[in-house]
Amino acid sequence: MVQLTKALQTQAQQDPEGFWQQHSHLLDWQQAPQQILDSSNAPLYRWFSDGRLNTCYNAVDRHVEAGRGSQVAIHYSSPVTGQAYDVNYAELQQLVARLAGAMQQQGVVKGDRVVIYMPMVVETVVAMLACARIGAIHSVVFGGFAAPELASRIDDAKPKLVLSASCGIEPSGPVPYKPLLDAALQQARHAVPRCLILQRPQVVASLTPGRDLDWGEAQQQAADAPCVPLSATDPLYILYTSGTTGSPKGVVRDNGGHAVALAWSMQAIYNINAGDVFWAASDVGWVVGHSYIVYGPLLVGASTVLYEGKPVGTPDAGAFGRVIERYKVNSFFTAPTAMRAIKRDDPHASGIKSYDLSSLKALYLAGERCDPDTLYWSSSALGVPVVDHWWQTETGWAICANLLGVEPLPIKPGSPALAVPGYQVEVLDEAGVAVAANQSGAIALKLPLPPGTLTTLWGDPQRFHDSYLSHYPGYYLSGDAGYLDEDGYLYVMSRMDDIINVAGHRLSTGRFEEVLAQHPQVAEVAVIGVADKLKGQVPLGLVVLKKGQRDSEQLQQELVQLVRTEVGPVAAFKLVTVVEKLPKTRSGKILRATMRKMADNQPYNMPATIEDPTALGLIEQALQRLGYCRNSVEPA
Ligand code: COA
Ligand code: AMP
Repeated sequence: MVQLTKALQTQAQQDPEGFWQQHSHLLDWQQAPQQILDSSNAPLYRWFSDGRLNTCYNAVDRHVEAGRGSQVAIHYSSPVTGQAYDVNYAELQQLVARLAGAMQQQGVVKGDRVVIYMPMVVETVVAMLACARIGAIHSVVFGGFAAPELASRIDDAKPKLVLSASCGIEPSGPVPYKPLLDAALQQARHAVPRCLILQRPQVVASLTPGRDLDWGEAQQQAADAPCVPLSATDPLYILYTSGTTGSPKGVVRDNGGHAVALAWSMQAIYNINAGDVFWAASDVGWVVGHSYIVYGPLLVGASTVLYEGKPVGTPDAGAFGRVIERYKVNSFFTAPTAMRAIKRDDPHASGIKSYDLSSLKALYLAGERCDPDTLYWSSSALGVPVVDHWWQTETGWAICANLLGVEPLPIKPGSPALAVPGYQVEVLDEAGVAVAANQSGAIALKLPLPPGTLTTLWGDPQRFHDSYLSHYPGYYLSGDAGYLDEDGYLYVMSRMDDIINVAGHRLSTGRFEEVLAQHPQVAEVAVIGVADKLKGQVPLGLVVLKKGQRDSEQLQQELVQLVRTEVGPVAAFKLVTVVEKLPKTRSGKILRATMRKMADNQPYNMPATIEDPTALGLIEQALQRLGYCRNSVEPA
């Protein structure tokens, strides 16, 4: 059952150039690459460096030219507005060419950055493709981030243009985006010359004369723009993700490697080909949305579903079943947290099961660890096999997965299965030596990484090197810890840094700490991620006040509000408590990992270097006040 996968692994390892050259034929190139892997600047590798292509051409135009213009490209389903309509490939080509022309009219040329701060509407997909069409580099910022997060991304990317909308729509109602954009533009040091604003009927935004243009009006005078030939190594997009410090990392993705890897992954991993229907219930602001709402399905000529809604409450826990039935979805991708939300509201999945799910072949879960309970429950709710697969914003596509398009592997709950061909996954000890099967260590990927993975961090190649390449020379450090079993199945157990995963959203506790420390009454703070039944993890803040300051309900509300205003509602920061002191080592390092274990009722070691052991007792009481650390755990 694993022969084909193992054979592909061996082929990709022994002859990476032959392997990827073969898959480069999935695309139409203006100039087919002769040099498949350029290792001349190792550990920086480049794929297909002399190839020329256009990603938008491959995702849109070529399907129209092949006579599939009337096939649906996007099924748009928006239960929060009651809207649903389809866009076929010919219509998509027109929309993209026109918007690309409007962007050119605003002076956007190849290599310029364009920030996209948009909700889940068709225009967002059009905007990304329009950038790709003219070689502009898009940077999509998730709508749940607050103004300062948007401002820091604007300062880093320095866009010539921002594309935004008057509002997003959450189950609680419309969320006006324009005031957030205005605040961000005011806070940013970089001056953005032009914004195009999509007015949605739910909220009408006021436009700043001289800077803001109405989306529709801007397109009226524009000509359609053709696809610009690009080098395979030209950047396609920057996507910011949380690092261990407050400032986000701008992951850079190129055109050629990205398109080849995604096209191959659609077939090999997701078993999706031209004419099939694929649905990733994520948000275009995250990497899953980039790769598998927009580029992956369109590159192979499939139909993608763009869903502006939630797994529950829009209007009910049967929503996923309704969409699968309506569009005859073949493969479906979401985060474990979404399935847990459905299980919470509808434990027997009777909502989902009331729909005809016969088109569905498999469910794919990623974004966070998939606990076996969620895997079993999801499989029975949808009546299909569940593929847990492991990847990151940095890699852009799965590192470990069950390749259903190649052969189904035996499922081991809790494991995202085997390394995808092209990746070489190892578990290393501190000295960089591979550990034995079933021994835990740092999960590292042997270089070169396959096509489609990050090429650098925007504007900061040194940080790219320091964050990922320097720890174990010859390897990429994933930041995750875990183990490989005797069959080569990987188990991803935890992060090795201060990144937490809240409802499948990757957030930095370092950033929370930075924000909380701004409060005038706060002397010191530690934020840890604690286990949460629904969201996997949620942040919990432990705050030490300055001398003479007092704890109060109001202070706690101010702290919660501060994180909401500075980071955004997506932070889901609701747990905060005041403590007398934080436990530290004698060298002053805060014992976050120890506190996290206490909160989650896991055995912990009393660190030999602890400065003041009584501090841990105080933390235990504080955690118990918040409903954590229920059973007092003795240090191991
Ligand atoms: N724009 C503005 N606000 C947003 C937003 C957006 N795009 N997305 C989320 N928010 C807000 C929500 O309204 C909510 O605000 P509130 O505190 O006022 O209620 C807050 O951010 C947290 O949102 P969310 O993470 O959606 O939590 P929830 O409790 O409302 O819903 C789930 C829980 C599990 C249903 C939801 O998190 C979910 O669907 N998760 C799946 C995540 C996913 O697909 N991740 C992608 C990786 S594959
Ligand atoms: P992001 O960059 O937001 O996609 O988050 C990537 C991180 O999410 C990984 O480094 C892991 O910590 C976690 N993650 C994603 N998928 C899985 C999975 N299938 N199993 C365990 N952890 C996962």
